[in-house]
Formats: sequence, C-alpha cells, structure tokens
Amino acid sequence: MVGVCTDCHAETYSRTELAKGDDMIRDADHLMAEAIRVVTGLYEDGTIPKPESYATSFPDLLTFHDASTAIEQKLFVMFLKHRMRAFQGAFHMNPDYALWYGWSEMVMDLTEIRERAAEMRH
Ligand code: HEC
Repeated sequence: MVGVCTDCHAETYSRTELAKGDDMIRDADHLMAEAIRVVTGLYEDGTIPKPESYATSFPDLLTFHDASTAIEQKLFVMFLKHRMRAFQGAFHMNPDYALWYGWSEMVMDLTEIRERAAEMRH
C-alpha cells in the first residue's frame, strides 16, 4: 500500500497517516468487543432466550434489523454503521466525520447497551 502513496508522498508521511486508520480500527474494535460481551452476557444468563433462527445462543452480527431485541439492533447499528464511519472516516482523512458520526456514536451506543442490559435484568 505504501508503495502506491510514495508516488506522491514521503514514505514516513504515508506510513504515519495509514497507521492512524489502523489505530482507529483497533480502538473501535475494543468498543465493539465490550458491547458484544455485554449482549453475550444476556444470552448466558437467559435474559435473552436463543431465537430459533440462531445457530447458537450468542449475538448474531448478520441478523441486523431482524434481531429479536432492541439491544441487539443497537449492537448491529454500532457494528455496521458507526464502526464503519469511524475507521473509514479516519482512512479518508476526515476527522470530523470519524469522530462525530463514528467514534462518538459508538461510545454512546456502548453506554446505551450497558444501560439496556441492566434494565432487561430487572
Ligand atoms: C497521484 C498522487 C497521490 C497518491 C498516489 C496519493 N496521494 Fe495523497 N494526496 C495527493 C495530493 C495532490 C494531495 C493534496 C490534496 C489537497 O490538498 O487537496 C494529497 C493529500 C493527502 C493527504 C492530506 C489530506 C488532508 O486533507 O490533509 C493525506 C493524509 C494523503 N494524501 C495520504 C495518502 C495516502 C495514505 C496515500 C496512499 C494510500 C496517498 N495519499 C496517495 C496525491 C496523492
């Protein structure tokens, strides 16, 4: 990849800029992992029963809007919409987009997922 960039940019600059996108993916995936753990916990303690269409008692990230619970729909929007914007915004050198439409939304998704999980157990 850097070989392409160096047709026009310095190698150090290219590597530094690409690394910012990689870092964003890693950070976004830590948020994602935490959110998946929260929802998985709801399956483990039986708060969410395994839907018949699911292969296992675990959030199915490909179910998207057909998920059986709102908390899982939130999880999928977090994964398929906000995570995308966070890292794609970073790779397109658009910090405004990456932050407000991606990262910030993911942080709020996670907060809401935690709150909903607590409410669902009451
Ligand atoms: C064909 C030449 C060319 C190639 C190849 C190229 N760039 Fe650029 N890049 C430019 C030019 C010209 C600009 C300045 C555009 C402007 O100022 O509007 C730019 C701007 C940028 C910026 C600054 C954007 C900003 O708004 O501050 C970054 C970061 C960047 N390129 C990264 C890369 C990376 C990473 C690659 C390889 C994946 C790459 N470029 C490949 C020509 C190129």
